[in-house]
Amino acid sequence: MNIQNIQEAASYITEKLSISPKVGLILGSGLGMLADEIENPVKIKYETIPGFPVSTVEGHAGQLVSGTLMGVPVVAMQGRFHYYEGYGLEAVTFPVRVMKALGVEKLVVTNAAGGVNPALNPGDLMLITDHINNTGQDPLIGPNESKLGVRFPDMSTAYDRALQEVARDVAKEMNLDLKEGVYVWNTGPSYETPAEIRMLQKVGGDAVGMSTVPEVIVARHAGMNCLGVSCISNMAAGILDQPLSHDEVIETTEKVRDSFLRFVKDVLARMS
Ligand code: HPA
Repeated sequence: MNIQNIQEAASYITEKLSISPKVGLILGSGLGMLADEIENPVKIKYETIPGFPVSTVEGHAGQLVSGTLMGVPVVAMQGRFHYYEGYGLEAVTFPVRVMKALGVEKLVVTNAAGGVNPALNPGDLMLITDHINNTGQDPLIGPNESKLGVRFPDMSTAYDRALQEVARDVAKEMNLDLKEGVYVWNTGPSYETPAEIRMLQKVGGDAVGMSTVPEVIVARHAGMNCLGVSCISNMAAGILDQPLSHDEVIETTEKVRDSFLRFVKDVLARMS
């Protein structure tokens, strides 16, 4: 991880901003509309930021959106980089490093995930209380840059307890049936087999997806506090007798759009 690249990207972004973002938002598949609610937005296309990963997939380009949301200065990633797209984990997590360099102290990560626990339903929002890295990969493999964090970062509170409490309080007040559980990271892009899902049930997974964990590992390495929210977009393979499709994932995230927006915004309002 090259500190100079991080600094260059951060300087480029800072020059364009009139606020200093305190909370970072990473918006998952189908959940990018949250960035459209940001007031006085400054939008910066990823491809213009020095050192940012270059998108090779057409129509997959994203942008940073910075401004205020619920009175909180934020910077949001509208679209993230996935390992399955062929980016290295250093590239996948580079934006988190840049957010830290911008002064971001708290990170809200969202994703669409398959329900592994049969008690979940498509359309549920799930507070991520912990994760299982099921990939054998780690974004911190390689020489450690001690200016960025320690060699062996603690992951016992990968998801900040105080932020989880805020999320529970907000859900209660909204009358939102917020589920809770453990998110499992698989690389994808193939969905799991039913046998793999039965295995994940046995090891304590509640939801499964193809993102979030590398960003959270790097955020913790950098000393940021994380809040994770999954939108359960489908039941994982084999739970219902039907094939999985990305269309279903996107359809479900569209259905929960309003409660997702309200929930994350109300949580944000209490995060400052
Ligand atoms: N498996 C993996 N990733 C996912 C799923 C799933 O079922 N749904 C949304 N992302």
